[in-house]
Amino acid sequence: MCYNWAHREPAAPWRHIVMAFAMLHYRHSKINARMTQPSISVAPMMGCTDRHFRYLLRLISPRALLYTEMVTTGALLNNDPERFLQHTQDTPCALQLGGNQPDALGRSAKLAEEFGYQEVNLNVGCPSDRVQEGGIGACLMATPRLVAECFDAMRGNTSLPVTIKSRIGIDNQDSWDDFHKFISTLYNAGCRDFIVHARKAILRGLSPKENREIPPLKYDFVYRAAAAFPDARFTLNGGIKTVPETQAILKQVPAAMLGRAVYDNPWLLSDLDQAIYGDAPAERRTVLEHFRDYMMTELSRSTRLKHITRHLLTLFQGQPGARAYRRYLSEHMYDDHADITIFDEACQLVRPMHEREANRLAGPAQERSQYV
Ligand SMILES: Cc1cc2nc3c(=O)[nH]c(=O)nc-3n(C[C@H](O)[C@H](O)[C@H](O)COP(=O)(O)O)c2cc1C
Repeated sequence: MCYNWAHREPAAPWRHIVMAFAMLHYRHSKINARMTQPSISVAPMMGCTDRHFRYLLRLISPRALLYTEMVTTGALLNNDPERFLQHTQDTPCALQLGGNQPDALGRSAKLAEEFGYQEVNLNVGCPSDRVQEGGIGACLMATPRLVAECFDAMRGNTSLPVTIKSRIGIDNQDSWDDFHKFISTLYNAGCRDFIVHARKAILRGLSPKENREIPPLKYDFVYRAAAAFPDARFTLNGGIKTVPETQAILKQVPAAMLGRAVYDNPWLLSDLDQAIYGDAPAERRTVLEHFRDYMMTELSRSTRLKHITRHLLTLFQGQPGARAYRRYLSEHMYDDHADITIFDEACQLVRPMHEREANRLAGPAQERSQYV
């Protein structure tokens, strides 16, 4: 049936009802898919998951859900939000907020939607001194009701999924009962999407780095919570390094979040997509060519080379020449006038194994000429 939109009649009331049902169905099918399909995400990491690194990750994996670095409501609402929220081609991407004031979090959640993010997340897991001084991050686990108010304000200001990223406890508040109480307070406020870094945070005496390594991982807390709240979605985070580890976790919960392992080896995302979804591997050369184009565009907009290439140091991990590449890049990318040639020259130091082998067989003169 052909429908001429230019001459359409006023919509009959039933049409509104059908549309409303269709929208509801669409939202629900998306929500259901989110609840049940296995999903991989890349953890929010300050200084790491900025828009440049996310662009690279998106070229490697069309699927992984990417999290921004934490942005505090103060930074966002007292400055030009564009400075913190601009991003390109990283969908699906979740904006992580740091804050403890429901009103400010509500307004920030609204901005997340306006700037084209697909989820908004509240940080209830960061234990750094600075974050604690602001009364945000992991210390909020001591006040679940306040977190619930924050959640409520965020949800009231956006149609995006609102998620909470927490630890399994803090300091001596680290029993299963404590964790259960935290989750159930949020559950009763309507939260159905939890991301849990499955170790507690110790708020005094450990650095953030130590707080990511010393408190033991307790995946069973997350598995128990998933069983106790079967219509909520739990994402397990903490210490996941390999494809088999991720696959084992996905047998227990629908979602796994990886942080450091992906930062240290971004290609791991492609291995995961292959193993979990049967995708074709990411074509490294194509990824690099596209990313180089992106770098050229960014450099033409006055972005400094080092702000992008600092994420590329591990790109050739395990390949011949990777160490020389890394050294060259880190020695030259900080120069005031560093441009794309620094990256190109660094890449020249990495050669696929078969090329090296061919050069070796062709004789020393040929081999040398490849490296000058
Ligand atoms: C350099 C760095 C910065 C981080 N910044 C944040 C952050 O901004 N927000 C947050 O919720 N977690 C942050 N985290 C914690 C990670 O999101 C993640 O929970 C933690 O690294 C455990 O996961 P992993 O073992 O897979 O790395 C950070 C971790 C690292 C290594």
